Amino acid sequence: MIYAKVAGTGSALPKRVVSNEELAQTVDTSDEWIKQRTGIAQRYIAGEGETTSSLAVDAAKQAIDTAGLNASDIDLIIVATTTPDLVFPSTATIVQNELGCFGGPAFDVQAVCAGFVYAFATAEKFVKTGAAKNALVIGAETFTRILNWEDRTTCVLFGDGAGAVVLSASDEPGVLTTRLYADGRQKENLWVPSGVSTNYQAMQDGAAFVQMNGQEVFKFAVKALAQVVDDALEEAGMTAAEIDWLVPHQANIRIIQSTAKKLKMSMDNVVVTVDQHGNTSAASIPLALDTAVRDGRIQRGQTVLIEGIGGGFAWGGAIFRF
Ligand code: ACO
Repeated sequence: MIYAKVAGTGSALPKRVVSNEELAQTVDTSDEWIKQRTGIAQRYIAGEGETTSSLAVDAAKQAIDTAGLNASDIDLIIVATTTPDLVFPSTATIVQNELGCFGGPAFDVQAVCAGFVYAFATAEKFVKTGAAKNALVIGAETFTRILNWEDRTTCVLFGDGAGAVVLSASDEPGVLTTRLYADGRQKENLWVPSGVSTNYQAMQDGAAFVQMNGQEVFKFAVKALAQVVDDALEEAGMTAAEIDWLVPHQANIRIIQSTAKKLKMSMDNVVVTVDQHGNTSAASIPLALDTAVRDGRIQRGQTVLIEGIGGGFAWGGAIFRF
């Protein structure tokens, strides 16, 4: 049996850090409000020359390096992003060009904040079926470029960054289960209501911004993520007590706490980066994973549950042995 194993991780952040206090100089908000409602203290914002693909490439190089591989060993690239460099070609092919590993498939996955889980689950199928040996899975965003900086209900929540993993074929586990879901009826609770074939003028005018019904997102997220946890554990034939680490999508500390409670897990075993990074959408899970691998919290042989939800709504999770 072939398993997909996380062979290496990496991450990258833009240079500029923006604290809540700095944001409060231009937006009608406060450090206290943001921290209390979301847990966010600061976020990184991409500047000129920093793009989704440049952050993705930096994260990818680290992941390939820590996997002990060369770029030429990579035979599949999937980039999860809501904020691609271009309409086309895909950010994955731009990353492939920068890495110089040509020929294998490279494509983007769009599931907003659930994008990394979707990309991870997709890459796992390639590896498990023998269609790829070393898959590079990246979550990368310059999400702050689709924020309306005059809308305090959204602009305080998000940040930019990238995280990456290499999933390699292995005869030992490995990814134990992946679960994906979507409910397209929820479109207008969290969306950018313009794109290439609808309301394109807003894109051209630089007015294609995130809109969100925060309370509906919150309620749905708590319920949906509880379902992910139940289903993933059942499918893996595991109990919550067997999970060493929860690495959740980093949207809001209160959503994270409710999933930890569902797992009866101490917050000491939950990787939290939302305070430092804000919500980096598809990048948040691999960024958090890499943070905890690098600082030595997550050790080889331990069991990790990742989960996330985003616009659509789309949501999902995975359990893997690191
Ligand atoms: N600063 C100060 N005041 C604010 C701000 C702000 N940035 N934003 C809203 N307010 C005000 C509102 O205007 C409102 O004022 P009012 O009572 O005078 O009308 C008050 O704060 C309360 O607003 P609510 O929307 O009720 O605040 P709530 O407690 O629901 O918190 C939040 C809002 C943080 C967005 C919350 O609903 C939430 O976290 N939802 C989940 C959304 C999320 O995480 N989205 C990320 C993308 S999806 C994902 O990744 C899962």
